Amino acid sequence: MGLSYSDILKLESITGSSPFYLVVRQRFERNFDDLTAAFESRYQPFTLAYSYKTNYLPYLCQIIKQKGGWAEVVSRMEYDLAIRIGHDAEKIIFNGPVKTQDDIERALDNGSIVNLDCRPELDIAAAYAHRHPDRSIRIGLRINIGLSDEAGRSHIQNSLKVGRFGFAPAALHSQFLILNSKLQTDNLKVVSLHGHTSTTDRSAWCFETITKTLCRIAGEHFADTIEYINVGGGFFGRMHPDMPFKNVPSFEDYAQTICGILNTDNWAASTRPTLVIEPGVAMVADCVSFVAKVASVKTIAGRLFVTVDGSAFHAKPTFHSLNMPHQIITKDDNRSVQTFSVVGSTCMEKDILLTDITAPLPSVGDYIKIDNVGAYTLVMSPPFIHPAPAIVADEDGRYKLIRRKQTLDEVFSNYSF
Ligand SMILES: Cc1ncc(COP(=O)(O)O)c(C=O)c1O
Repeated sequence: MGLSYSDILKLESITGSSPFYLVVRQRFERNFDDLTAAFESRYQPFTLAYSYKTNYLPYLCQIIKQKGGWAEVVSRMEYDLAIRIGHDAEKIIFNGPVKTQDDIERALDNGSIVNLDCRPELDIAAAYAHRHPDRSIRIGLRINIGLSDEAGRSHIQNSLKVGRFGFAPAALHSQFLILNSKLQTDNLKVVSLHGHTSTTDRSAWCFETITKTLCRIAGEHFADTIEYINVGGGFFGRMHPDMPFKNVPSFEDYAQTICGILNTDNWAASTRPTLVIEPGVAMVADCVSFVAKVASVKTIAGRLFVTVDGSAFHAKPTFHSLNMPHQIITKDDNRSVQTFSVVGSTCMEKDILLTDITAPLPSVGDYIKIDNVGAYTLVMSPPFIHPAPAIVADEDGRYKLIRRKQTLDEVFSNYSF
């Protein structure tokens, strides 16, 4: 996604100012198509439910709907957005650890799949089924998946030994006795098992473990009712050559592993449940760049700092330590190559977008484009010091403003003065 200086000027004339995000529509569509093809060619029925939390730009959510994908949401805000986007309620999956009674009842009423995370949520669903004996209430259960390998190493995010989401399989027997007593009302049935687990390495082995665990539980406890095996998200996206990850599984590798299990597991092969994946990163990370303008270049104690008008809050609000792929876009091509850090527009020392990169040194008025910033960025950046920047979509070289820069009135519209 290389841009020229004149491209940038064109983009800035659309946004009115820098910084801004650039979303490449074609990449998002290609990720959807390639993921779908990898899985559908190996197993059907199959559904891709896009993880809204990763980047809920309405522009992207609409593409998902147009292409026949589902919405995966984890809050009432996201649920209501999916409805506003025009998704059929039956094509919305409601996950997440905190749902109110009203959230659960509304979603069940609408026929959405609600994957319950804990006993209080199950109690709400069971009580609802008792109150509505004439209705068939279909629920899902999130299953807590252990991901410790043979060497005892846990693959769960941050190397946590135990994850916190869902119903614990270690207590399966007692859990399901309780469940069964709740489920005796025959209008409440478990139709979905959900096993999303955020991992350190996004490896195929993790998905193998998740899929096997879900199929085993389905076969043992819910053989006649499960319609959906949902392995969640957590896949690597297409890898940029400048990223430090090596031997990353491809979409085909993931599909081979997961579908291979569904095609051979006794229960799954005979029941043919719908396989659901909920990709976020793999769908959107490589579709978005962040462009900021150089405001100053200075040397302090022998170190070169290039300050730009955007911040790490825009490009990496989780403050991870990676230097994302980037492009320095200068007015003239004869800049000397130097080692420098790119630092942001806030007042925080740790607001560092790129650390000690070696590249042509830009000057004031030049631009820095940081790529692969589509996941967990603009949904996580508050209007910290500056209002939210504009977003432009690139539709095969034609630019379209899909969010203008936030105004002062918008930032403060719900405050009392
Ligand atoms: C339930 C659920 N599904 C899907 C995802 C998307 O994960 P990723 O963006 O890593 O694909 C997440 C992320 O935390 C999640 O919690």
